[in-house]
Amino acid sequence: MAIVINGKEVAAKVKEEVKEEVKLLNANGIEVGLAVIIVGDNPASRVYVNNKKKDCEEVGIHSYEYALSDDTTQSELLDLIKKLNNDKNVNGILVQLPLPKQLDEKEVLNAIDPNKDVDAFHPVNVGKIMIGDYSFLPCTPAGVMELIHSANIDVSGKHCVVIGRSNIVGKPMSLLLLHEHGTVTICHSRTKNISEITKQADILVAAVGIEKFVTADMVKDGAVVIDVGMNKNAEGKLCGDVDYLSVSEKASYITPVPGGVGPMTRAILLRNTLTAAKIQ
Ligand code: GUN
Repeated sequence: MAIVINGKEVAAKVKEEVKEEVKLLNANGIEVGLAVIIVGDNPASRVYVNNKKKDCEEVGIHSYEYALSDDTTQSELLDLIKKLNNDKNVNGILVQLPLPKQLDEKEVLNAIDPNKDVDAFHPVNVGKIMIGDYSFLPCTPAGVMELIHSANIDVSGKHCVVIGRSNIVGKPMSLLLLHEHGTVTICHSRTKNISEITKQADILVAAVGIEKFVTADMVKDGAVVIDVGMNKNAEGKLCGDVDYLSVSEKASYITPVPGGVGPMTRAILLRNTLTAAKIQ
């Protein structure tokens, strides 16, 4: 039976550390601020943004929300980002994704000052991650690494299989595992015989976006299984990419959903905002 890696506990520790450091900065007359831009009324995005606001409050970071209407134009959004890039009260800028269709996501992310890019989505930060010389790491992959470290799991020499190749999770996740000397395989929708590959994993990271995609027969005995999935099941309940009950019989460590990677993503955003304030 797998040991459950408790993301809530690890996240609480990260938040406590951030809170203490924010206090220290405050004592030196420095305030920390995060601007969050949300465009339109995507219900999931609204929940995420509300959570971010709450998290900021808990650790003493000022949050500034910019809720723009669904029909916002590219130039309106770019003007706002330009303004926030020059705003001394704003240390971090986050544009909640996805954006409505009329907006060019790539151009929007490129407009954010790389020193305020707390998502680490700007090409400059992506490039820095590639060469292992970074200020910010994207929140979810960085959170996964924290969870792995919290359980004292050594990545070096392990076969790490990442399912998913998104710019937000799969690709940077693979690089972080590689930086820690894992042997990394990336699987995706065109991968043939996927279970033959996942069965070789010492560390399996699922970032697919499909409920119960990873079943017990795809997992090696004693594997570490990290579930990045945030899916809604038929009853509207949050669930991961991993068939938790059966896989936890086989794995050595497993992260639950909810209470695994999700809280870590939120905590790392706060840490990135603190880092941004320190850089500036
Ligand atoms: N939408 C889903 N995940 C993310 C994320 O990590 N950052 C941003 N900005 N938007 C998202």
